Amino acid sequence: MAKMHVKLNVNGTEVEGLAEPRTLLIHFLREQLSLTGPHIGCETSHCGACTVDLNGKSVKSCTVFVAQANGADVTTIEGVANADGTLHALQEAFREHHGLQCGFCTPGMITRAYRLLQENPDPSETEIRYGISGNLCRCTGYQNIVKAIRAAADELNATREAAQ
Ligand code: FES
Ligand code: FES
Repeated sequence: MAKMHVKLNVNGTEVEGLAEPRTLLIHFLREQLSLTGPHIGCETSHCGACTVDLNGKSVKSCTVFVAQANGADVTTIEGVANADGTLHALQEAFREHHGLQCGFCTPGMITRAYRLLQENPDPSETEIRYGISGNLCRCTGYQNIVKAIRAAADELNATREAAQ
């Protein structure tokens, strides 16, 4: 199959490559860019392990062709940490509150939560649960994940207030 040229901004860096029209974004990220943070769980848009941020929206990258992401800004879990290399408040909170167990869902969960807190910086527990309802954790550890996201929201809000 003829390959097409694609160009994306991934985690703040312009990248380009050749991909077949049927190539999924998750495969391009993992196989061509070696960004193995986004995981493949189901490949049918159910589990959310492959969640990345595409032009400011959470998407399941197993459901997007890389051709559709041509020219887009993409953030994966590898791009969530702070610019100085320290962990993002969400990453710290997941560690602190035991929001990860086997860790398989964690990259998608954190990438989704990263967008959720930009959409709603002060979410209630119900809003957090609804916000991450497209991300499955088969360790059934939602309690601590929710606690971690809430703690990260508090931390980010306190930092924002202190800066004002
Ligand atoms: S691998 Fe994409 S939603 Fe499960
Ligand atoms: S921590 Fe195991 S699947 Fe979520």
